[in-house]
Amino acid sequence: MSQTKVTLSELLELSAEWAQEAGALTLQHFGGTLSAETKGDGTPVTVADRAAESFLRERIGERFPEHGILGEEFGETNEGASVRWILDPIDGTKSFVRGVPLYGVLVGIEVGGEPAVGVAHFPVLGETVAGALGEGCFWNGGPARISSISTVAESTLLTSDPKVLLAHPMTPGWDSLVRKAALVRSWGDCYGHILVATGRAEIMVDPILAPWDAAPFVPILSEAGGMFTDKDGNAGVHGGSGISTNGTLHEEVLRTLSGSG
Ligand code: IPD
Ligand code: CA
Ligand code: CA
Repeated sequence: MSQTKVTLSELLELSAEWAQEAGALTLQHFGGTLSAETKGDGTPVTVADRAAESFLRERIGERFPEHGILGEEFGETNEGASVRWILDPIDGTKSFVRGVPLYGVLVGIEVGGEPAVGVAHFPVLGETVAGALGEGCFWNGGPARISSISTVAESTLLTSDPKVLLAHPMTPGWDSLVRKAALVRSWGDCYGHILVATGRAEIMVDPILAPWDAAPFVPILSEAGGMFTDKDGNAGVHGGSGISTNGTLHEEVLRTLSGSG
């Protein structure tokens, strides 16, 4: 099949547009009484998650039939394609079903196996953060930029679920990080990473992340001046955990989390 020639800037524009349209679909179900099914991995899924992912798959398939797609709800198609879209139709489903507006639609695009484009759209908040390598990172069209805070002592530290950290191997280091930070909040899931990319917090720690939970954050954080890695400092979205920082604090955060800081 012949490849559709497309630039990162075009992919950035299209992925943001489609994430916003998918987000509009989720709004039809937000705030009402919505029942969630529990999947095999213990996480919830709703009719809105499936509708939003189906919509994204349709748009991508129509425009780029040769591209690969990996989605949380419907798995992988065109495995081995050089361009792969990674979709989380609703990140923060637990927030979504409770009527909490901090959930997002996530779209990441890998080119040649490397994360190249990322979008996080927050339908209720009306916020979209989108970045592509070499193209910049944008927050509702304007520049997205990390904060200039230079010490963990002055930082705002975020996580998704403090309970998960109680049972996770990074817990000893987590306790030290909590003690060092100025402010600790659980404005978590994808919103935590986006708060770091837009300079509203400095550190976001999530000990358990699937590739679709993490896919947009390498391009978003790096283009906003920050950093996204797994807990061992590896770049990419396949490490199983995710740490976003404003860059300056990254090394100290990883050291502290490892228990040697
Ligand atoms: C969850 C969020 C959360 C992470 C969980 C995921 P979902 O995604 O990304 O931050 O810690 O592991 O399951 O289920 O709301 O899409
Ligand atoms: Ca997710
Ligand atoms: Ca999800």
